[in-house]
Amino acid sequence: MKTDATRTLLVTQSDLRAIVDAMGLDALMDELIHALAEALRTYDASTTEVRKREGFLLDHPVQPGVLEWMPVMHRGHTVTVKMVGYSPLNPDQQALPTIIATNSLYDVRTGHLLALMDGVFATALRTGAASAVATRCLASPRSTVLGLVGAGAQAVTQLHAISRLFPLKQVLAYDTNPAALQSFASRAAFLGLDVRPATLAEVEAHSDIICTATTVGVGAGPVISGHELKPHVHINAVGSDLPGKTELPRALLERSLVCPDYLEQARVEGECQQLAPELIGPDLVTLMKHPDRYEAWRHKSTVFDSTGYALEDQVVTALLLKHAEHLGLGTPVALETIGGDALDPYALLRGPPQAPAQRLEVRRAVSA
Ligand SMILES: NC(=O)c1ccc[n+]([C@@H]2O[C@H](COP(=O)([O-])OP(=O)(O)OC[C@H]3O[C@@H](n4cnc5c(N)ncnc54)[C@H](O)[C@@H]3O)[C@@H](O)[C@H]2O)c1
Repeated sequence: MKTDATRTLLVTQSDLRAIVDAMGLDALMDELIHALAEALRTYDASTTEVRKREGFLLDHPVQPGVLEWMPVMHRGHTVTVKMVGYSPLNPDQQALPTIIATNSLYDVRTGHLLALMDGVFATALRTGAASAVATRCLASPRSTVLGLVGAGAQAVTQLHAISRLFPLKQVLAYDTNPAALQSFASRAAFLGLDVRPATLAEVEAHSDIICTATTVGVGAGPVISGHELKPHVHINAVGSDLPGKTELPRALLERSLVCPDYLEQARVEGECQQLAPELIGPDLVTLMKHPDRYEAWRHKSTVFDSTGYALEDQVVTALLLKHAEHLGLGTPVALETIGGDALDPYALLRGPPQAPAQRLEVRRAVSA
């Protein structure tokens, strides 16, 4: 993106809406799938440094949450950081999404915050795109039935992204929360697919591809039995993202090719927690660089262990900012106290005074 040394570009919900209105949701998802596949295929650790995410565990007696930061550096250019909260009680207690995130982009040469944007829509898009990329490598190309275990927010983009690559004839959805299950068909109606509520046993028996995207509690998994699966089933396990929180039975993992998005992270918080190191397959970058090596697995059981990879956040942030810039969207704001005397942090006090109403608002905010 074009940089402004003193302004930060704020990209809000309405800017994202304008991008989708201009491009179309399918075109945006297609472009993201393509961009992510390219970023993985050409990944070079000497130019891109991805760090394992870190965070605070937020204790809750029933369901713990986390607030985490996910950094990635394009050496010499930018650092993208996503700040992401996982608060599984949000939908029921606050009418807010489980995943709330903001993505920020910094200039590595100066430390200046170039852009700040929503990460809720962006995370859902890139998580769907990541599963699509992995599914294209690992699932049978003749897959027509998709099963969803967990029919919440991520399920929408899992389905959307995979439907862009596979000619789905039927979608079977299961959720332990009847309200989420009931509303899923209307949330997915924009795709015009045959989406049906199903029992867990039906999802397992009939699906060629399964996406598990649940808020199952720590130690409460697995969320599927793994007994009656199709021999060629490909599973995108999207919901394990905490130590002790897993969605798949160990026996299933042990007989499958398991591909983590980011090994270092997946061994701590993904399905790979359950596996001995020698049983873990190639990571997503290796898979994308050498798809031929793993082609035979399309006819056997495979798992994409998706914990959430900061590279995905870098790609989606860059893509959305590119469109915002092209369409003249976003609001440049002077957020940081820069642009005056570089040696005087009090230089801002010598500009024109703030209007009285603004001063009052600031005082109220400070004393609140
Ligand atoms: N891998 C990634 O990159 C990535 C990105 C975003 C979110 N996630 C994870 O995906 C999961 C889902 O996120 P979301 O935003 O869709 O949350 P959500 O709250 O919108 O939906 C989760 C759904 O799972 C259901 N559920 C819980 N336990 C279940 C079980 N045992 N069986 C079936 N359904 C069950 C809930 O009722 C809920 O409807 C979370 O764990 C989240 O942390 C992963």
